[in-house]
Amino acid sequence: MRRCSCVPITACIRLESTVANQRRKVQRSVLLAAVTLLTSPGCETVRETGSMTSQRSIPLDIHSRAEPNRVRVTHLNLDLTLDFAMKRAEGTARLHLRRLDRQAPLVLDAKDLEIIRVTGDGEGERPFQTGPRDARLGSALSITLNPADQAVTIHYRTTPAAEAMQWLGPEQTAGGKHAFLFTQGQSILTRSWIPLQDSPGVRITYEARIQAPQGLTPLMSAEQLGRDRSGAHRFRMDRPIPPYLIALACGELEFQPISGRCGVWAEPPVARKARDELFDAERMIQSAEKLFGPYRWGRYDILVLPPSFPFGGMENPRLTFATPTILAGDKSLVGLVAHELSHSWSGNLVTNARWSDFWLNEGFTVYLEQRIMEQIYGPERSNMEKQLGRRDLEEELKTLEPWQQVLECNLQGRHPDEGFSQVPYEKGALFLRRIEELVGRKAFDKFLNRYFKQFQFQSITTSDFLASLNEILLADHPVAAKKLDIDSWVRQPGLPPDAQAVTSELLRQVDTELARWKSGVTPGELATSGWVTHQWLHFIQGLPEPLLAGQMRALDNAFQFTQSGNSEILSQWLLAAIRNRYTQADARLEAFLMNVGRRKFLKPIYSELAKTPEGLARARALYAKARPRYHAVSTGTLDGILK
Ligand code: BES
Ligand code: ZN
Repeated sequence: MRRCSCVPITACIRLESTVANQRRKVQRSVLLAAVTLLTSPGCETVRETGSMTSQRSIPLDIHSRAEPNRVRVTHLNLDLTLDFAMKRAEGTARLHLRRLDRQAPLVLDAKDLEIIRVTGDGEGERPFQTGPRDARLGSALSITLNPADQAVTIHYRTTPAAEAMQWLGPEQTAGGKHAFLFTQGQSILTRSWIPLQDSPGVRITYEARIQAPQGLTPLMSAEQLGRDRSGAHRFRMDRPIPPYLIALACGELEFQPISGRCGVWAEPPVARKARDELFDAERMIQSAEKLFGPYRWGRYDILVLPPSFPFGGMENPRLTFATPTILAGDKSLVGLVAHELSHSWSGNLVTNARWSDFWLNEGFTVYLEQRIMEQIYGPERSNMEKQLGRRDLEEELKTLEPWQQVLECNLQGRHPDEGFSQVPYEKGALFLRRIEELVGRKAFDKFLNRYFKQFQFQSITTSDFLASLNEILLADHPVAAKKLDIDSWVRQPGLPPDAQAVTSELLRQVDTELARWKSGVTPGELATSGWVTHQWLHFIQGLPEPLLAGQMRALDNAFQFTQSGNSEILSQWLLAAIRNRYTQADARLEAFLMNVGRRKFLKPIYSELAKTPEGLARARALYAKARPRYHAVSTGTLDGILK
């Protein structure tokens, strides 16, 4: 079916903003866009293959200055030279445009970029203006277009302030010899290294040419096209993706294949270990395809970064970025691969259109991740992960404000990071599990497949999802529809009473041993042989507070927690050590904080330290030393805690 692009589809513009002039701006631009499209002879059509060139109006994104319903960026041609000595990238971003309102300027997001000049199609330069800088959003970069311009070229360089980029010295790498660079775009950081319309509602394709120093390999979230005659590396992403998924890394890197379409990139000293640990990735892809439909991105590789990477993983298309802290040696932390891989469906194929719909990315992904884990490692492991996940959610809910406890949240006046918690992840997944429980797994799987197909390569809002849910699933399941309280799941704080509480048999055994320990049995006498990581985590989390120095020492002597090579176990133990003033773990704590930059570990540890005056002083001293080694994502959070 050919559908004329000028017919806006349902629920395109949701006026989340309470700012009246912003509202007027959108209404005006939508109207103009519609009028322009209706009157323009070249009214484009959506291709039959789906919505690879979607013409939908883009919902207002309060975290972007762009006006994509007037002039929309559709394709990026990036040409950058990496200068490790100066910690900056320099070159051009050529942006291809769809001009919906011929009179409108091109408005982009830019943060801490040095714009040198802008050219268009044809002669001369294009006037541009950089608006006032907002600490969260950066600046609007407004470019005046000539009538004939179908593209503009921005000559620019990044600055050391670029929040997306982390430039590491050799001492921060496993090899210790070469510098390293990586970028992190989600949620609104891409604008600090590329001037573009940095909204997840604006999907673009891209090509890139990256000039890197001799001996270093650049990689991107795209197909590798090899080197050109000048030695630059070339890349192409021919599926439209949101800008936060454009990613670049560069360092001394080695590739280890897992299968014909899947492998691991890492620094040479960790490459082999990384491949062995992540070897199940190919099985995970097969399992995911069986459950959710074809994998649409060609290759799936994983890049294991140096330990300062601020996240566990980041779902950059074709190339998941991952922390080395998941390399536990026993595959116990590979749920993270199942998670990032799942984003190839939820997040990368069907994307949250605004950050207030973030749960559409993460809640779906946790649900899919759990399905893959169940299929590959069996229900018991999946049950442990579900139980631990729900516990984390319940603990965190106690600390969150009501607005943070809802799935579709109001981020007006806030950074997307402020909505980041276990709520979009775990509550989101629990919502989907509740639907699955009501309609049955078979029907729910069918729905998921249709949903991914219906919205493939599109960015959607919570209402789009709910409309689809009602239309293709609940309409056929009236009893389930009646039982499902969508409002309390999506818009009310807290956890609805019908949330599933999964219990795991292996964790129940841990409870038994904890009870024995509390009744006086010594650590060495507990039945812990064969325990897996999840059980140890449950054990440490279940320890009562406070503990005496002697009790901590006895536990440590029996189970070697302070020496644990498992980052999850170690970080839980370090928290207990801080709370119970167990000073034998001090050196390990300091080494951990100096080496690891993963926010998920750093935030609770520094927060725990900051609870007492002596702890706060210690935290500040440690942070002063470690801060230069952390990515801006982590310092952004930690500065707030230690201010
Ligand atoms: N997309 C997220 C990481 C992210 C979220 C970056 C928000 C920036 C803003 C990624 O998929 C993720 O959720 N990673 C988790 C691991 C996962 C197993 C829960 C992490 O980094 O801990
Ligand atoms: Zn995720």
